[in-house]
Amino acid sequence: MRQLSKADKAVFIINDSGELIHADEQARTLISETDVAERLSAVAEGFSSVLLSSGCAEVPYSVTCRHIQENGIRVIIFEDVCGRSELIRLASIGSIMPSIAHEMRNPLTGISVLLDDIHDRLTGKEDERRLIRMSIAEIERLERMLNDALVYSGGGSSVMFDENIGDILSEVLMLNHKLCTVNRIEVHGDISPDIPEILADGGKLRQAFHNLIINAVEAMPGGGNLTLSAYVSDGKINIHIKDTGYGIAEEKLHMIFEPFFTDKSEGSGIGLSVVREIIRMHGGEISVRSEIGKGTDFCITLNI
Ligand SMILES: Nc1ncnc2c1ncn2[C@@H]1O[C@H](COP(=O)(O)OP(=O)(O)OP(=O)(O)O)[C@@H](O)[C@H]1O
Ligand SMILES: [Mg+2]
Repeated sequence: MRQLSKADKAVFIINDSGELIHADEQARTLISETDVAERLSAVAEGFSSVLLSSGCAEVPYSVTCRHIQENGIRVIIFEDVCGRSELIRLASIGSIMPSIAHEMRNPLTGISVLLDDIHDRLTGKEDERRLIRMSIAEIERLERMLNDALVYSGGGSSVMFDENIGDILSEVLMLNHKLCTVNRIEVHGDISPDIPEILADGGKLRQAFHNLIINAVEAMPGGGNLTLSAYVSDGKINIHIKDTGYGIAEEKLHMIFEPFFTDKSEGSGIGLSVVREIIRMHGGEISVRSEIGKGTDFCITLNI
């Protein structure tokens, strides 16, 4: 059975024995001749809504059934409500997301600071300190998911200032230095001092670089090399985030920027879609080159 295109209607007319006596063009594409009588009879028995299978998923349609004559002829109208309800759902997520993110971030930061303090007081108790570091890492993961969800839902404001991209990259690299050391990853920075300032949302770019670095770290479970380089070429700022991890298969490359694509058991799959969104909002571009077993190189270009 085929799915109606969004906001479409399909009209069927059946007689008192449930036989189809008329189907408009949309109706004919929706339902195959073989199962039409059985399904329409069930609908006409008084359901106000029904789930029709559209091949792989069940799709909700609103159904109106009118008895137009005493002789039992019924007009049944199917209307796809899936598209409409999805839009309403997305709009409401977008509007409440900034306040949820704000309310959640403050207590998370508070917990992080307290744990950090306890960590420093536990001198000589390496096992306990390790557990606290793990807890802090989990809180950071929550914060990252929250920030990603905020960008993904279209919420949150953008604040553009003159920013030095080289400084932002060095800062993000420094913040992730410990994570890399723990994972036996050697970090190399090759950031040209000639990169001019550009108008950018520093917070969002930090988030994008951070997501790429985390992906690189996750791609090197046995350790490796992470190289961040930035330089000016052809009037653009070029940024490379390169790892020597397990790489991405060619057939997967076109999917990795799609929301919810993930091959990690604990991944949400929105990290790279958020990176792409952030780069796009800066008028830039992102591309990727990868080789299985050798590593991956994400390249970002930003206009000067
Ligand atoms: N550096 C990389 N090396 C190998 N595979 C990668 C790399 N970066 C991304 N990928 C692939 O792209 C997929 C999507 O990445 P993305 O960051 O969007 O989601 P995720 O890392 O799976 O989850 P999360 O939303 O928590 O970041 C990953 O699951 C992985 O398969
Ligand atoms: Mg990721």
